[in-house]
Order: sequence, then C-alpha cells, then structure tokens
Amino acid sequence: MIVGSIRENLTLEKRVSLTPETGKNLIGLGLKVCIEKDYASHLGVKDSQYKEIGVEIKSSSKEVLEKSNLLLKVNCPSENEISILKENSILIGMFNPSKNRDQINKIMNDKKIKIFSLEMLPRITRAQSMDVLSSQSNLAGYRAVVDCVAQFEKAVPMMMTAAGTVPAAKVLVIGAGVAGLQAIATAKRLGAIVSATDVRAASKEQVESLGGKFLTVEQSEDMETAGGYAKETSEDYKKKQAEMMKEALKKNDIVICTALIPGKPAPRILTEDLVKLMKPGSIVYDLAAENGGNSAFSEAGKINIVDGIKVIGVKSLMNNLPLTASNLYAKNLFSFIRNLYSKEKKDFNINLEDEIIEKSLIKKEL
Ligand code: NAI
Repeated sequence: MIVGSIRENLTLEKRVSLTPETGKNLIGLGLKVCIEKDYASHLGVKDSQYKEIGVEIKSSSKEVLEKSNLLLKVNCPSENEISILKENSILIGMFNPSKNRDQINKIMNDKKIKIFSLEMLPRITRAQSMDVLSSQSNLAGYRAVVDCVAQFEKAVPMMMTAAGTVPAAKVLVIGAGVAGLQAIATAKRLGAIVSATDVRAASKEQVESLGGKFLTVEQSEDMETAGGYAKETSEDYKKKQAEMMKEALKKNDIVICTALIPGKPAPRILTEDLVKLMKPGSIVYDLAAENGGNSAFSEAGKINIVDGIKVIGVKSLMNNLPLTASNLYAKNLFSFIRNLYSKEKKDFNINLEDEIIEKSLIKKEL
C-alpha cells in the first residue's frame, strides 16, 4: 500500500502533511511512502531528508496522485488534482466539508474515494493524538499573543526601573477553549495581567489554574453541550455579557477573541460600541475573523484601525508557524493511519464500528 502526499497551493497554505519523522513511522508500519520533489523545501526541509529514511521522491504531483492508495493533504484537492486522483483510494486531511461541498461530492461520486476529514473526529480520549483542531488551535492561541505583542506599542510585563515603573499590560481572552487557554498561558508567561471569560462554567477552573482571572456572566442555564462545546447564547445572556464587557474593555489593552460554536458562524460578542470603549493603542485580535468574527470591525487578513484601536482579523494563521504546525499535523495524521491500517491484512481497515473512523468518514453526498 502506498501513502503519498503532494505540495499544497503555496500561495494559500504552507503546511505539509508528511514530515521525515512521520514518513519513517509510516514505513515502519509496512507502508510505502512517496512525495513530489521539493515537497517541503519552502520549510527548509530537503528532499534528501525524506529520501534518507526511504521515502520515494517522484518528479511530479501527477505521479504521486496516480500511484497513492492513500493521499495525505492539508486542504481540499484542486479540480486538476481531483481529476488525477486514483479511483477507490483514500483521502485524509482537513477538508471543511461545509465550504467544499462540490469538490467533496465530486471526489466521492466520480472517483469512489473514501474521504476522512479530521475536523470531524470525536473528541474522545483515544482520538486525542489525532485531534487536528486541538493541535492547530493550541498553536493559534500562542501565536495570537505573539502577534499582539508585536503590534502593541508598549511593553507587556511590569518593569521597575530607575526612570520609573512601567505597569503590566492587561490582556482579556474571550473564549477559554483550546486556543483561549494557550493564549492565557502565553500572555501570563510574558508578564501580562490576564483575565478571561467563557459561557461554559467548567472553564472557570481551567482559567484560574493558569493564573487568569475568570469574568463570570451570571446565568441559570448550563451552556455546555454533552460533547463539551458551547451552546448559542440567549438574548438575555448577550445583554448581561455586554454589561460585563463594558468595564473589562475600558481596562484591558489587548483583547483576544476565540469564541466558537461548532458549525455556526462565530458569535458576535464585541459590538461597535463595545470596541470603541477601548483606549487608543489597544488591540482586538480576532481568531474567529474567517468565520464572521467575534468582534465588529474584524475582517479576515486585515488590520482595521478604529479610533486608534487596532482590530486584527486573522487569516491563515498557521502560515505564520508552518513548520511547527506541520510537525504536529503530520503526527496527528500518523496516529490516525496507525489506527486505520491493519498490519496483518496489509490493508486499510475501514471499520465503521470504530467511532474514530465512523465519525471522520464522509459517508454520504453533502
Ligand atoms: P474551542 O471550541 O476549543 O473554544 C472556543 C471557546 O469559545 C469554547 O470554550 C466556548 O465555550 C467559547 N464560547 C463560545 N461562545 C461563546 C460566547 N458567546 N462567549 C464566550 N465564550 C464563548 O475552539 P478553538 O479550537 O480554541 O478555536 C478558537 C477559534 O480560533 C475558532 O474561531 C477557530 O476557528 C479559530 N482558529 C483559527 C485558526 C486560523 O488559522 N485562523 C487556527 C486555529 C483556530
């Protein structure tokens, strides 16, 4: 069985799905592995590093696509790539099914290919090592703080100098999920005074364990679903949250927005009036910008300056740390394949009784 991977469209995506380390691990399972030439050269990883461990280097993506029984990708293949994909093969990546419906239907119908989209993995203990959303969001939370600090025109930690004392910057994190918790930890490490809010009551303890202050919105309803995600908030909750935000926004220098409800547009939490309460020189960093934004004035890929406040709309953040993101993503993929491949049968075993396989496989036309 041959596992292949081709370069992504480098103008949009710098991550790769296979590293020399995971290539070696796949070969260790008994699989053959191939990539197209210059596969990861944009990340400073040479073909020779893959070749050394037994990965075959093909002269074109076409050769890889034609030969692979299992193809690893980050994003959905292009029209041209789809036309070359091997029939009855397997495709694994993060394909954002709601946005790429036509391509996915085409791959399934015309080519009879089994597609696994790993954003759909169940969030169970056994799937943690495969959890692409967690690995990438964790990095997003870290990078959010680094980017904010680079844009912030003041120092972050408190500094006592002979010339006077510099107060510590105040950072507010909205949404304390994977990205939010890493943002809290990173901002604390840099010496900021950090607070955070979330609709899920369970997140209070996690925020506090990282040294953040939890800002509570009083509520009677439990806002957490059985799967551990947030529910959409009521109008009453939104009003109470906005009231709480008023005071917080006046005090904070940097606000990092990470609120997410799976499968829905990003909840709009910071209205225009709320953003404008911040001091000039403050920053709103919106990780949800590509999904509609948690904040007014957010536009993906842009920095909008409103009354001296920088509103940063994040786009393709993983392209800012593609090597680390690729290393973790490739490890997620390897863990997934290890569970999918049967060494005894020397074949991929699509066992729909395994929750991991059943949930991540796109089973019917979208
Ligand atoms: P997550 O689901 O782990 O966390 C989201 C948190 O928001 C949850 O704790 C949830 O309870 C909370 N939340 C939902 N509605 C809320 C509300 N109205 N008020 C306060 N909190 C609320 O999600 P994760 O993985 O941390 O992702 C966070 C955001 O970062 C998402 O928008 C995601 O798409 C984005 N992201 C963007 C990347 C990029 O490259 N642009 C990369 C990774 C993540």
